[in-house]
Amino acid sequence: MREAIAKAPGKVNLLLECAPLGADGYHQLFTVFEAISVYEYVVARTRRQPGIAVETRVYRPSSVWDGTPEYDPKLGRQLATLEPQNHLAVRAAKALQPLASASGWGATSSGIQLTVHKTVPAAAGMAGGSADAAATLVALNELWELGLTLGQVEHIGRTLGADIPACLQGGTTVGVGRGDQLSDVAVAGSKGSPQHWWALAFSEEGLSTPLVFQEFDRLNLGSKLPTELRSDQREAFVGVPEKLAGYLGNDLAEATLRLRPELTQVGKTALHRGALGWMVSGSGPTVAALVQTAAQAQEVCQGWQELPVVSSTALACGPVEGTTLISQIPEWVV
Ligand code: C5P
Repeated sequence: MREAIAKAPGKVNLLLECAPLGADGYHQLFTVFEAISVYEYVVARTRRQPGIAVETRVYRPSSVWDGTPEYDPKLGRQLATLEPQNHLAVRAAKALQPLASASGWGATSSGIQLTVHKTVPAAAGMAGGSADAAATLVALNELWELGLTLGQVEHIGRTLGADIPACLQGGTTVGVGRGDQLSDVAVAGSKGSPQHWWALAFSEEGLSTPLVFQEFDRLNLGSKLPTELRSDQREAFVGVPEKLAGYLGNDLAEATLRLRPELTQVGKTALHRGALGWMVSGSGPTVAALVQTAAQAQEVCQGWQELPVVSSTALACGPVEGTTLISQIPEWVV
C-alpha cells in the first residue's frame, strides 16, 4: 500500500466584487482571497479493489488559539447525503486517474481510498469543498508520481471548482474570471508570519452558493468590475489589520443577509467586542471578524456564544501557505 497526505487551507474573501449573471451561467468576479489557518487534510491510499472510495470525518475547529479540532460525528451527518460522485475529493481523483494510468500505474491507479478530515465547515463560504479537491490533487500527484507542476494542478483544479486554484496557491491572491484566474498579491511566508487575526462564527445550517447567486440576481446587484487593484488596495490587503479593515467588501453580502438577516447581529456583536471590521465570507453564512490579536479574537468569540444563530466559533490567522504535502496526519485525527 502506498500513501500520501496533503493539507489545504480554507479562505476568506477580503474583497468580492461581482458582475451580473453571464451567458455561461456564472458570474464574473473580481476578488481577493486570503488563505487562512483552518485546514482540510486528505489521506490518499492505494487499495486492491478498483474504484474511488471516500470517507469524510468532520471536526469542529478549536475556539481557542492552539487548541485542537474536535471530532463530531453529528456534523458528519450533513455530508452523509452527499453522493460520492459529487464529492469534490472524488471528482479530483477522477480527473487525475487517466494521467496515472497513462503514466504506467495501470491497475494500481484504479483503486484509491480517500479519507478526508474536515475542519472547514461545509457550505460555509470558506471553500471547504475546494480545499478537499486541492488536497486530493496534491496528494495523488505525489502518490502516482505524476510530476505535475503547481500550474498544471491549478489548471485541472479550475475545471472542478472556481475556488480550487486559490486553495492550492494560498497566500493572498486576486481572482478574476469565475474567481479561478489568479494573480499574486503576496505569497504567505515571503512577508514573515501571518498578520491578520480572524474570529469566525459558523452557522448550523450551511448556505448553497448557487442560492446566494440567485438572490443576488433577483436583487439585481451586479456591478461593473475593476480590471486591477489600485495601489492603495494592494497595500491594504497585505497590510496591518487597522488599514485592511476599511477595505473589506463583499458584493454578495446583501444577498446573503437577505437570506440570513440574523447574521447582521453577529457582525454587530463582533464590533461591540472590539473587532476592527467584519464581513460575510464568500457566499456565507460564515461571519469573519478582523481583530488585532488572538486575545481579541477570543473576546469576540465569547460575545458570539450568546447568539443562537452561532453554532460554533473558531480563531484563524492569515495569510497562510497553500496546499502542501505533509508526512503525517495531526495527532488529534480519529
Ligand atoms: O465553481 P463552483 O462549483 O464552486 O460554483 C458553484 C455554483 O455557484 C455555480 O454552479 C454557479 O451557479 C455559482 N457561481 C457563479 N459564479 C461564480 C462562481 C460560482 O454563479 N463565479
